[in-house]
Amino acid sequence: MNATNQSQRTQVAIIGAGPAGLMLSHLLSLSGIDSVVIDVRDRETIEATIRAGILEQGTADLMTSTGVGDRLLDEGQRHEGTYLRSRKESRRIDFAALTGRSVYLYPQHEVLKDLIGARIAAGGDLRFGVHDVEVQGITTDDPKVRFTEPDGTRVELSSAVIAGCDGSQGVCRRAIPKDVRTDYFHAYPHGWFGILTEAPPSSDELIYSHSEHGFALISSRTPTLQRMYFQCDPGEDASTWSDERIWDELRTRVNGNGFELKEGPITQRGVIPMRSYVIDPMSHGRLFLAGDAAHTVPPTGAKGMNLAVADVAVLCQALERYFHQGSTELLDVYGRTVADRVWQAQHFSWWMTSMLHLDHKGDAFDHRRQLGEIDQITGSPIGGAYLADTYTGRPIALTNPDSVVAEALTRTAQRTP
Ligand code: PHB
Repeated sequence: MNATNQSQRTQVAIIGAGPAGLMLSHLLSLSGIDSVVIDVRDRETIEATIRAGILEQGTADLMTSTGVGDRLLDEGQRHEGTYLRSRKESRRIDFAALTGRSVYLYPQHEVLKDLIGARIAAGGDLRFGVHDVEVQGITTDDPKVRFTEPDGTRVELSSAVIAGCDGSQGVCRRAIPKDVRTDYFHAYPHGWFGILTEAPPSSDELIYSHSEHGFALISSRTPTLQRMYFQCDPGEDASTWSDERIWDELRTRVNGNGFELKEGPITQRGVIPMRSYVIDPMSHGRLFLAGDAAHTVPPTGAKGMNLAVADVAVLCQALERYFHQGSTELLDVYGRTVADRVWQAQHFSWWMTSMLHLDHKGDAFDHRRQLGEIDQITGSPIGGAYLADTYTGRPIALTNPDSVVAEALTRTAQRTP
């Protein structure tokens, strides 16, 4: 073996330092299980990439009860409800009253900073900026991840299990052979035009706005930085839009009846595609997929990061059973256990999208029907209960009572009145 090739070993090789990979590594470490996390991106890129911002109650609970929630509690905003706006009128869905749960507005890249910080403080092994990642031997009992370090060292990492957390474009999803897998895919005929603007908040809670000109979402980041989106063509080129044209579009969709968006300079813009994807099965041999590697949701239901965290909470419990008790019983049902939540989230995201977006192939009937649906959701507690229940997130499945995950979540549940 020469100096530029190295063989290394760990218990769990984690590919991808996003919410799934980092949270898994964090939870495993609390249970005394070793992991190595690799990512093709560098740390700065991961910590600066703007993604969605809503944490379900269970995601927030898991962060706080496992020691990575200090900044979330300090800087995140707890939202006990949200507004649905139609015909220039906002009506509130009261999450706290309907479910006893809330959500937190805390951007995904802040979650990643907290997890990276915690892993580094605990002596965790994170390798950023690697390239030429390959997975091999996933159906043998000696699976390997091969990759090249930024300094050119080619590493062969052996592990008992590989966690594929490398997103929709990564190598792990593709490592499950085509003849054993089914890919469920749905493309929506819309995109989201997203902006960051230096302005004060326009609202105390998010506004999901339906209008005859299309959907818009008013969210926030900090007291001086706001996040807003509006429905656009999926092929739209964001760079050709002037600030004035963007504000015009947002104003027509949201302003009215005494409500006006607070405007400011636009500091970032981009178009987000809207797609749904699920792979079945979510594991093959020693490879277990989690997060966007296994499924993608459109942003409407704010489920992407939350699904990733729920996946790895279940995967961690299964790995604890495997490493501490020598049983594959929970690993064997991992995919089936998480699939229920995934498909419920797929339905929820599709449903929110169909209720709120303008369908260019639709007609006056569709428009009036959507208004009827929004009235039904906002018109009574029973109407709003499904939205509140799914948006704030049902409890994460506790599959192993001896797990750090079960212990942390049970402790949080006892603390919460
Ligand atoms: C965001 O703040 O970026 C955000 C919030 C809710 C969504 C999607 C994105 O449904």
